[in-house]
Amino acid sequence: MPMKKILITGGAGFIGSHVVRLFVNKYPECRIINLDKLTYAGNLENLRDIEAKPNYEFVKGDITDAGFVNELFEQRRFDGVIHLAAESHVDRSISNPLEFVMTNVVGTVNLLNAARQLWLKGDSAFSASRFYHVSTDEVYGSLGDTGLFTEETNYDPHSPYSASKASSDHFVRAYYDTYKLPAVISNCSNNYGSFHFPEKLIPLAIHNIKNNKPIPVYGKGENVRDWLFVEDHARAIDVIFHKGRNGETYNIGGNNEWKNIDLIRLLCEIMDRKLGRAQGESAKLINFVLDRAGHDLRYAIDSSKLQQELGWKPSLRFEEGLEKTVEWYLTNESWLNNVTSGDYKKYYEGQYERR
Ligand code: NAD
Ligand code: DAU
Repeated sequence: MPMKKILITGGAGFIGSHVVRLFVNKYPECRIINLDKLTYAGNLENLRDIEAKPNYEFVKGDITDAGFVNELFEQRRFDGVIHLAAESHVDRSISNPLEFVMTNVVGTVNLLNAARQLWLKGDSAFSASRFYHVSTDEVYGSLGDTGLFTEETNYDPHSPYSASKASSDHFVRAYYDTYKLPAVISNCSNNYGSFHFPEKLIPLAIHNIKNNKPIPVYGKGENVRDWLFVEDHARAIDVIFHKGRNGETYNIGGNNEWKNIDLIRLLCEIMDRKLGRAQGESAKLINFVLDRAGHDLRYAIDSSKLQQELGWKPSLRFEEGLEKTVEWYLTNESWLNNVTSGDYKKYYEGQYERR
């Protein structure tokens, strides 16, 4: 029997690296091919512990290049695709929406076309193939003080990022409905954990607290996010890829809502303890700054379909996961130093200097 080949796109990013690690270790009988452009967010350091494994392979490439994508699929004849490659940061989407359209929409359609060409030629060897599109809860828009997003919630994206992800979700559904391309989608809440790029709230705050720099909190810090440990997301992706039903959507969430300001206060307490500072010291760095344009108030996920149908549930309490995350950043100082040198400084100045 030839080895099953699974393509994971965006495998050098934050969530992708956890998914690649899980698949490479758990499925030695499968070949895991990681396709990534290595943008500012992609980092092969995230995969050092598994890069020498015989069932792992890295391919550098851009999903917006249709010719390259088609050739890769034709040559390698993947049995399944887990698509995570994306531009993922809301603030960057506000400054440069077109890049988000290119990677998140055009890139996704290129992959769908290549999968369609390969799998729908009546080639029975590929009958069990599937295209798994990893998406976000931001496609559902913003909640008020109550309620949860379910799989039936209407799409109502507000940022250029969420508009591009919503569009890509619609294309995946369109390919399922129109061409019968076997496809499944998941929409997940905010992830946190190791290898998270410090443009996002939690790693940015850890980095700033460590360096005694102000912690920028948008608006009044009243916005609410539902946080999920990244390794729990990777486990959910594994379960959905193997057992989810084609044509279905699965919501993934931590059942763990935090107002930004409360989360930052908790993080400050943990950092004080870990850095041997007096309690209350890090919280002095909190700095309320100009709000994000179009800032969604609240996201909250109902993941009961995934829990009941496929038996997944989050494994960690947030306090425990956040403590583990802080420990990881303090232990992996050189990772943090490497990703915050060079272009990051320019990005940071552009976003925060005059905010
Ligand atoms: P990330 O920004 O950390 O990583 C994205 C990866 O995609 C990087 O390795 C980057 O190099 C690669 N990439 C970008 N453009 C590419 C292109 N044109 N061709 C090939 N590779 C390219 O993102 P993340 O936070 O790990 O998110 C991964 C996926 O999960 C995204 O689709 C995102 O929308 C989704 N998601 C993220 C979260 C979250 O909290 N971070 C939550 C729900 C869903
Ligand atoms: O909900 C899932 C989404 O979560 C993913 O689809 C996105 O890829 C991911 O980036 C994340 O989006 P958010 O915009 O929620 O994450 P971010 O870490 O940028 O912001 C979290 C909250 O913190 C949000 O309310 C904005 C606020 N914030 C963020 C930054 C970077 C601040 O107050 N200050 C900051 O400096």
